[in-house]
Amino acid sequence: MKKLILIMSLLVSTSIFAGGNEVEGRKKAEQVCQSCHGMDGQGINDSYPKLAGQFADYMVIALKAYKSGDRKNAIMSGFAASLTEQDMENVASYYSNLADKRLHDLSIKH
Ligand code: HEC
Repeated sequence: MKKLILIMSLLVSTSIFAGGNEVEGRKKAEQVCQSCHGMDGQGINDSYPKLAGQFADYMVIALKAYKSGDRKNAIMSGFAASLTEQDMENVASYYSNLADKRLHDLSIKH
C-alpha cells in the first residue's frame, strides 16, 4: 500500500513538472488571462498578482484550488472553472518561464 501511494505521488508530481505546453499556454493567456495578469505576467496594476517567474507547480495548485473552491476568490474561481487540468499546466508553464521584471529592474539599479 505504501509503495502504491509512493508511485502515485511520483506520477502526480511528474505530471505537474513535465506536463505544460508553453505555446498552448501562451494562447490561453492571450484569450483569457492577459486582461488582468498581462502577457508579460506582471499584472496590469497592483490589484493583480504577478505570475511571471512564479513556480509552475504553485500556479497549478492555486488554479485547482480556485476551481474546487478550496481557495475562494470571486474573480479567479470563474476563470479557473473554465480551465482543464491540461490548460492549467500549459498556462503555468508559459507564465513560469517569463522573467520576473521587477527583480530584473532591481538588479539593474545595483
Ligand atoms: C478579471 C481579472 C483576472 C483574470 C482574467 C484572470 N485573473 Fe488570475 N487573479 C486575479 C486576481 C484578482 C487574483 C487574486 C485573487 C486572490 O486574492 O486569491 C488572481 C490570482 C491568480 C493566481 C494566484 C496567484 C498567487 O500568487 O497565488 C493565479 C495562479 C492566477 N490568478 C492565474 C490566472 C490565469 C492562468 C488566468 C487565465 C486563465 C487568470 N488568472 C485570469 C484576476 C484575474
